[in-house]
Amino acid sequence: MDHTTNLILPSLLAADWTQVGAEVKRAEDAGAKWLHLDVMDGAFVDNISFGPQMVQTVRKCTDMYLDVHLMIHRADHYLERFIKAGANNITIHVEANYDTSVTETLQRIRAAGLHCGIALHPDTPFEAALPYVNDIDLLLVMTVVPGFGGQPFMEKETMPKLAAARDHRDANGLKFHLEVDGGVYTHTAPIAKQNGANLFVCGTSSFGPPDMKQAMNELAAAVV
Ligand code: DX5
Ligand code: ZN
Repeated sequence: MDHTTNLILPSLLAADWTQVGAEVKRAEDAGAKWLHLDVMDGAFVDNISFGPQMVQTVRKCTDMYLDVHLMIHRADHYLERFIKAGANNITIHVEANYDTSVTETLQRIRAAGLHCGIALHPDTPFEAALPYVNDIDLLLVMTVVPGFGGQPFMEKETMPKLAAARDHRDANGLKFHLEVDGGVYTHTAPIAKQNGANLFVCGTSSFGPPDMKQAMNELAAAVV
């Protein structure tokens, strides 16, 4: 699948955690191909979610592509555990601390046979991703301050950056996906698409409604 394919990615953060296995199945039955997993360490972001054990639990429930978003410091220190847990893509933040470096961490993800991504906090300019754009499969432009689901889409602050990333990619013959994450609904997804996004992370807007399949279809229709 290349960067011209649009995909809606449910984010497990918004699922009912009293029945994780059933929720993963619900996403799969609703047509999800990729599932987004938000790992938070209580230090890089002001919230704590889950770690490798949850990724491994989800892996046991599904063959879906697992898109793991690490909102943590020292991703390089914890990397092997997420690789072993069954992640397919691992995205790391440029703003986080590393024992080694962002470059080395990306190389290790690649060497393990996984896809890799870079994420940008809303305050971080696109230029911060420039040193890595030749070595990534995905660039995640956060459309909320990372840490919590259910926040409003930061259009003014993030769409110019997304468009700049798209323009740079296309002008240089690069192929990475552009992913948006946070506040993505049927009314905001088209704005993100217009500015270059093809991967749409949807927490509240996918797991929230009782009919997830209908919600996923409506979100997909909004980005056709
Ligand atoms: C926010 C997370 C998101 C979150 C999005 O820090 O990275 O993936 O689940 O949630 P919604 O779609 O509810 O804004
Ligand atoms: Zn995320």
